[in-house]
Amino acid sequence: MQKSIVLPSTEETELKQFILKITKGAARKDLIQVLQAVQERHGYLPKESLRLIAVNLGVSFSEVYGVATFYHQFRLQPPGMYVIQVCMGTGCHAKGNADNFEHLRLLLDLKHGQHLTKDKVFSLEAARCFGCCSLAPVVMVTDSTGDYQRLYGHVDQKALKKILAEYREKAKKQESEPERKLIVYPKK
Ligand code: FES
Repeated sequence: MQKSIVLPSTEETELKQFILKITKGAARKDLIQVLQAVQERHGYLPKESLRLIAVNLGVSFSEVYGVATFYHQFRLQPPGMYVIQVCMGTGCHAKGNADNFEHLRLLLDLKHGQHLTKDKVFSLEAARCFGCCSLAPVVMVTDSTGDYQRLYGHVDQKALKKILAEYREKAKKQESEPERKLIVYPKK
């Protein structure tokens, strides 16, 4: 008997339907494309979505999980308010981005393999070449929907600290905005 798949929230019923739709007629060779489509729609790949993809494509869960964790482009946790992408292309790697990544990880108090900060303000990710290697080492910041915020070139530890402070400040402002009330004075 086929095991029923339980996704974590009702919001994800839609995701379940989406997965059913995109995996119809798909096969193992389509796995990466399916994962990309799910992440694009949902922002990340919940574990239960991986199970559903595995069942629908007729591959093992461990294979799907292996692919999702192998490629830097996939995230298994929801992204933070800001996503810091550290380029690990050859040029940036040679100019110290592995150390920069480690420095950011420590500044953000993340354990190895952990990407999302406790306050959910930042996600830290390794990325592929952004195509601006002359600025190496490069770090890019996007928001949680993947919208570009800014690209930072020639970064060093001092610059990284400043970048974090800048986005912490932005996050604070963003969080306080919904509380701002529009005060309409009665006409005299
Ligand atoms: S190697 Fe980093 S932008 Fe190309």
